[in-house]
Amino acid sequence: MTTTVQMGSPWKCFSCFPVIFSLILQQISVTADTINVTQSIRDGETLVSSGGIFEMGFFSPGNSSNRYVGLWYNNLTVRTIVWVANREIPLTNTDGILRVINPGLLVLLNNTNGGTIWSSNASRSVHNPVAQLLDYGNIVVRDANDESPENFLWQSFDYPTDTYLPGMRCGRNLQTGLENYLSAWRSNDDPSPGEYSFHLDPTGFPQILLKRDESVQFRIGTWNGIRFSGTPDGREDPTHRLVFVMNENEVSYREETIDRSVITRFTINPSGLAQRWTWVDRRHGWVVYLNMPADICDSYGLCGPYGSCNIGNSPSCGCLERFVPRDPGGWVRADWSNGCVRRSNLSCQGDVFLRYSGIKLPDATYSWYNTSMSLEECRTECLRNCSCTAYAQLDRSKGNGCLIWFDDLVDIRSLSTDGQDIYIRMASSEAGSTRKNRDILIASLTSAMGAILIGLSLFLCIRKKRNDRKMKKKGILEGGQEIAVKRLSKDSMQGLYEFKNEVIFIAKLQHRNLVRLLGCCIQGEENLLIYEFMPNKSLDVILFDQTKSKLLDWQTRFNIINGIARGLLYLHQDSRLRIIHRDLKASNILLDSDMNPKISDFGMARCFGGNETEAKTRRVVGT
Ligand SMILES: *[C@@H]1O[C@H](CO)[C@@H](O)[C@H](O)[C@H]1NC(C)=O
Ligand SMILES: *[C@@H]1O[C@H](CO)[C@@H](O)[C@H](O)[C@H]1NC(C)=O
Ligand SMILES: *[C@@H]1O[C@H](CO)[C@@H](O)[C@H](O)[C@H]1NC(C)=O
Ligand SMILES: *[C@@H]1O[C@H](CO)[C@@H](O)[C@H](O)[C@H]1NC(C)=O
Ligand SMILES: *[C@@H]1O[C@H](CO)[C@@H](O)[C@H](O)[C@H]1NC(C)=O
Ligand SMILES: *[C@@H]1O[C@H](CO)[C@@H](O)[C@H](O)[C@H]1NC(C)=O
Ligand SMILES: *[C@@H]1O[C@H](CO)[C@@H](O)[C@H](O)[C@H]1NC(C)=O
Ligand SMILES: *[C@@H]1O[C@H](CO)[C@@H](O)[C@H](O)[C@H]1NC(C)=O
Repeated sequence: MTTTVQMGSPWKCFSCFPVIFSLILQQISVTADTINVTQSIRDGETLVSSGGIFEMGFFSPGNSSNRYVGLWYNNLTVRTIVWVANREIPLTNTDGILRVINPGLLVLLNNTNGGTIWSSNASRSVHNPVAQLLDYGNIVVRDANDESPENFLWQSFDYPTDTYLPGMRCGRNLQTGLENYLSAWRSNDDPSPGEYSFHLDPTGFPQILLKRDESVQFRIGTWNGIRFSGTPDGREDPTHRLVFVMNENEVSYREETIDRSVITRFTINPSGLAQRWTWVDRRHGWVVYLNMPADICDSYGLCGPYGSCNIGNSPSCGCLERFVPRDPGGWVRADWSNGCVRRSNLSCQGDVFLRYSGIKLPDATYSWYNTSMSLEECRTECLRNCSCTAYAQLDRSKGNGCLIWFDDLVDIRSLSTDGQDIYIRMASSEAGSTRKNRDILIASLTSAMGAILIGLSLFLCIRKKRNDRKMKKKGILEGGQEIAVKRLSKDSMQGLYEFKNEVIFIAKLQHRNLVRLLGCCIQGEENLLIYEFMPNKSLDVILFDQTKSKLLDWQTRFNIINGIARGLLYLHQDSRLRIIHRDLKASNILLDSDMNPKISDFGMARCFGGNETEAKTRRVVGT
């Protein structure tokens, strides 16, 4: 073990002889984990934590030639910086020197003129300060004889840069006001704080927010006793346990490592993507374990107040059931920012609460909570106050607690697994309007609904399955012709727009590889499309079924491919309209009795003029 020992300030002399200095530099390599006031670290020397896990020294990020003091993993084949000291004030040469000075500060000095470039701070002083690099990636300043963490004068874990390491505490110390949060680098070449940051925001009920400057981009959600509300199944890491602390001293969370052999970190990159990484030895590299935001529904407040984002729908935004778009014109143009409003206005007295299930709870900035109330007490509390808009159970692990909202509900998304229940205040007139239990629907269609409608009258029996967005069921016309009926579910507001789109397009198209529309119906809340019946269902049913897919021989496959291509060619070039389908997938290819393919589902299609050959689309649609 060799260390540089400083007596007085001989480095001032070194700087007069840069050639000699650099020769000496190459020979000295500090492999200790601790320095005291008589020692220092120069550019080229490093501190290594006692177990050999982390290393601290000078580095240049990306393509930059600037020098920074930072921390990285000691033995990984990819240099991965996890913390930077002088992130805002780079050194332009290799003249920096890192020291511990009395009464307990870690400082980075300009060796040329002795000026301080960066310094830690401390509210206390000690007799014999040392700086030590610990094995979990934390550089701490402490008294030489006191190793207990609560007596550290300063630790880098309290001033994270863009990386969260297991054991680090993120959140706010309510006594001192000190906040620990992640802030992204400006670029890969520049570790100074960029636009994006990642906070545990204690306003209302604490929730984790990803911000771009001051504006919220993504909200992981509120702590529900088990996890943060917006993290569905599979986003949890089995090698770590989340600990959430909320008391009069602090609001914070931290991860505790269960399996120490797993090397993980969580970062936020310069373009605002938060990622969890795991080191995979076999691959000699980092593998992304999860990305946040994960999809468009993670965009904060995308669907506006009382809108709900469902990634399985296209477009993804819809109104919550019994809500309607505030600005229906904007809604069909995919401007969802105005959100939705209740169909019936609240009256305060006599309002009721309706349960909405399977959601990520809305933004809790304007909320109130009580950790011991029951759900019934919670309801009473919310009902008492006319400005209370909704309530929910706070803690799923204990099965109690009360969280109530005082403002419009924003940033709701529906989750396929692990969503929660929320009880939303509604006018009493909405109480009886639920149709959940009705499972037989008799719809009568009348004739002559414009040029596109074929005059027919039919009675259909449709058994309603819950949760199906669209249902395709078989019926028989009076003349005996078999038909398929596509019925749009009532609770998808976006349905009507898609529906009309589909009717308009497909009525004007005729090709043997496009499905034929026989009729449609828009009556009250019912929207039905009548198609010719396709006995072999859709391509996905065959393709993704192990036994059925074996029956698809190459000739049949080729015919299907050829037919789809013909249908597309017709849409793109030969039809009068020129149409881009925008949602072409196996489930939208129907197969007739001879296995001829027919393109269906024109809900997403877009038309461009007969002379145009290009169109730009401004948003993602379909699946
Ligand atoms: C600093 O550390 C060195 C090496 O461990 C030791 O010899 C020296 O006495 C220490 N100085 C102080 C002031 O503790
Ligand atoms: C450095 O610059 C080269 C060429 O401009 C580029 O290909 C490379 O990605 C850059 N590296 C980093 C880490 O930014
Ligand atoms: C790094 O060192 C640790 C602890 O000595 C060891 O468990 C790990 O396998 C090493 N990793 C690599 C990539 O050498
Ligand atoms: C260090 O000091 C030298 C001489 O005064 C100066 O030219 C240089 O810019 C300083 N470096 C930093 C990073 O302040
Ligand atoms: C240390 O510095 C940070 C940022 O400069 C400041 O917020 C904090 O209050 C300081 N802490 C002490 C103990 O002085
Ligand atoms: C509901 O309230 C809004 C604003 O107060 C008002 O503009 C609207 O007409 C009301 N709607 C009904 C159906 O009473
Ligand atoms: C929470 O509710 C319980 C039961 O209603 C009550 O006893 C307690 O005082 C409340 N706590 C706070 C902080 O309001
Ligand atoms: C209702 O709640 C709001 C927000 O917390 C509060 O300002 C108001 O005083 C409450 N009103 C009543 C009657 O409790």
